[in-house]
Amino acid sequence: MSTSKQLRSTDQGWSAISQTLHWLIAVLVIGLGIVGLIMTELPTSPTKIKIYALHKSVGITVLALMVLRLIWRLFDRRPAYPSGMPVWQTSLATLTHGLLYLLLFVMPLSGWLYNSASNFALRYFGWFSLPALSAPDPQLKALALEVHQWGFYLLASLLLVHVAAALKHHWMERDDTLNRMLPWRTSKERPRP
Ligand code: HEM
Ligand code: HEM
Repeated sequence: MSTSKQLRSTDQGWSAISQTLHWLIAVLVIGLGIVGLIMTELPTSPTKIKIYALHKSVGITVLALMVLRLIWRLFDRRPAYPSGMPVWQTSLATLTHGLLYLLLFVMPLSGWLYNSASNFALRYFGWFSLPALSAPDPQLKALALEVHQWGFYLLASLLLVHVAAALKHHWMERDDTLNRMLPWRTSKERPRP
């Protein structure tokens, strides 16, 4: 297989770049969600402040990775949907993927906006400062927090549908949908038992 084939997606599979971005972002986002829900419940302490700072820096990392991912996605193609997949399923998949992309920008940007409107400084892993997205503003702060919280509930709901669909394809339809997103993929379409 030539290098260009490994780097670019084909009908048989997602490219190494798409797979790496997919799984890296997936792990970071799941971690951010879990830490985000726990950290707000912690009593005020230096540890809480450190966890908040970590949440923000990792969230900004997701934003940067999403910019790369979007550029790559516009440049690369996606593998074809399995043959015979009904139109409602391909439409639902396209809609879910589109909303996931949108929310993966809305989440870090609303967090950044909330931080700015709250008049908190934002340092990226303590290395350098990032600019504020707005002046201090209590109303904007409340709105950004609502978007950050409701955005997460919507993201989590879509992820449940997304993972359920991936597992349904793998175990019930027995097609290559999940395999071709896996770095260790080897399989061809498998016969039903
Ligand atoms: C936070 C977690 C996750 C996020 C944000 C996410 C997001 C996405 C997005 C946006 C796409 C569309 C890619 C594109 O069109 O460029 C995608 C594809 C895919 N994801 Fe995920 N994903 C996550 C977790 C998972 C998990 C846990 C699984 C498996 C159980 C999975 C399986 C897949 C598969 C198989 C595809 C390819 C679908 C296709 O070929 O149509 N994802 N994911
Ligand atoms: C994909 C990226 C992100 C995800 C999935 C995420 C997720 C979450 C979640 C689930 C919460 C808990 C919400 C609640 O119930 O109160 C939260 C809180 C928070 N997030 Fe994020 N977040 C992300 C990015 C960011 C970024 C980039 C920042 C700031 C630069 C940020 C700042 C905050 C802050 C300050 C809180 C605490 C809000 C409070 O004290 O009530 N987040 N985040």
